[in-house]
Amino acid sequence: MCKFGAVENNVQITNSIAEGFSQITDMHPVPVDPDRLIAIAQKWGTPTYIYLEKLIRERCRKLINLFPDLPVSWLYAIKANDNPHLMDIIADEGLGFDTVSYEEVLLCRKIGAEPHHIFYTENNMTDAEMKGAVEQQVILNIGSLSRLEAFCDTFPGSSCSIRIKPDIGDGHHAKVDTGNEDSKFGIRLDQLSEAIAYAEKNRVAIKGIHAHIGSGIREPENLLYEINVLLDLARLFNDLEFINFGGGIPIPYRSDEPDFDLNRFAELASGRLKTFIGEEGRPIRFLFEPGRWIVGPAGILLTQINTVKDQGRKTFLGTDTGFNHLLRPALYDAYHGVVNISAPSDAETRVYDVAGNICESGDILATDREMSESKTGDYLAILDAGAYGMTMASLYNRRALPAEILITGKGFHKAIRQRKTPEQTVDEFLQDTGYSQKK
Ligand SMILES: Cc1ncc(COP(=O)(O)O)c(C=O)c1O
Repeated sequence: MCKFGAVENNVQITNSIAEGFSQITDMHPVPVDPDRLIAIAQKWGTPTYIYLEKLIRERCRKLINLFPDLPVSWLYAIKANDNPHLMDIIADEGLGFDTVSYEEVLLCRKIGAEPHHIFYTENNMTDAEMKGAVEQQVILNIGSLSRLEAFCDTFPGSSCSIRIKPDIGDGHHAKVDTGNEDSKFGIRLDQLSEAIAYAEKNRVAIKGIHAHIGSGIREPENLLYEINVLLDLARLFNDLEFINFGGGIPIPYRSDEPDFDLNRFAELASGRLKTFIGEEGRPIRFLFEPGRWIVGPAGILLTQINTVKDQGRKTFLGTDTGFNHLLRPALYDAYHGVVNISAPSDAETRVYDVAGNICESGDILATDREMSESKTGDYLAILDAGAYGMTMASLYNRRALPAEILITGKGFHKAIRQRKTPEQTVDEFLQDTGYSQKK
């Protein structure tokens, strides 16, 4: 096993079995044959994120075909997962990119995305970032009145989009509800006339309006409500070319959770969009910018059990990963299915907590889970980890980041991020701090 081994690209695992959703272990369907995951773990080591190209492509196509007779385009919110190899796949399927920082803008540009395919929703942007975005010629979406004024003063005669606070929010957790009345995001509804007047005075064309109500929306009605809010506001904007309804399409994390009914949502939304187009008489495009829905189910975090620890009331499976690699359980109390892929399918079950190796008592990845009887050395697959996994990872406790492996559409395994050794991780840190190593 090459725990810290070299990366080797395009190696086909010979004992792989056909991919599919048929494997049910511990109640959670694993989207790859467990034998194949174990082969990857043995070859590349753990912790490792694994992504499935085929599934990402299928999901992109589902979205692209969702509104066949409407001018709808899709942007992928790269904050969910910005591995450039995944971004290439998604761009190849015809999606543009939604970005939320100047660094994300640069990343998109450097992987070859055209400026008009990059939507940049700023958030407390600096003047330098604003100038950078204008130089990059991306679509700049401005989220506060004061920033819009600064933009108009600096770039009179230009154009932009604005983010509106629709006063309706949703999300899988209060921390990701972005549209409610108290949200820090977007321009207030009662400030819109002032915003429009300021833009007009400076001949700035507001070509787009945008809102994003939250991530992991629980009630489709809230998204439909937001769509209505933006459609109603559209008439205020003379130069309008597009309306961006944001992202937030949820995925089920629990095996008994119903999936978001995309087709039903599209049906309801289509009716409203078609009526709007009929009434408007000007060519206005519609955008959505999901992240999680595209990559979430297509990612697995593979980890190994280092310790099985009976603490009296609880038995912990101690792993070689933690909230430094998958923050969602610690930050949002989020649930991820965890499957012991080493255990035989007819194994006895026991109740465990799955713990990380970070020195914090909050470093628990799963609580009170009935799982196959587990032992040191077994591999666990943490499911639905493709979104907000690696992008939220940190070097806390000075631990190295996971490797990332893509199972390509042709069935090859490709390393798309190399694991650093502990020595490399520490050396890079010392180098970044400008500290001269003593040993
Ligand atoms: C502005 C914006 N757009 C899009 C997204 C993507 O959300 P999701 O991954 O839930 O689709 C987010 C995430 O919170 C966001 O902040």
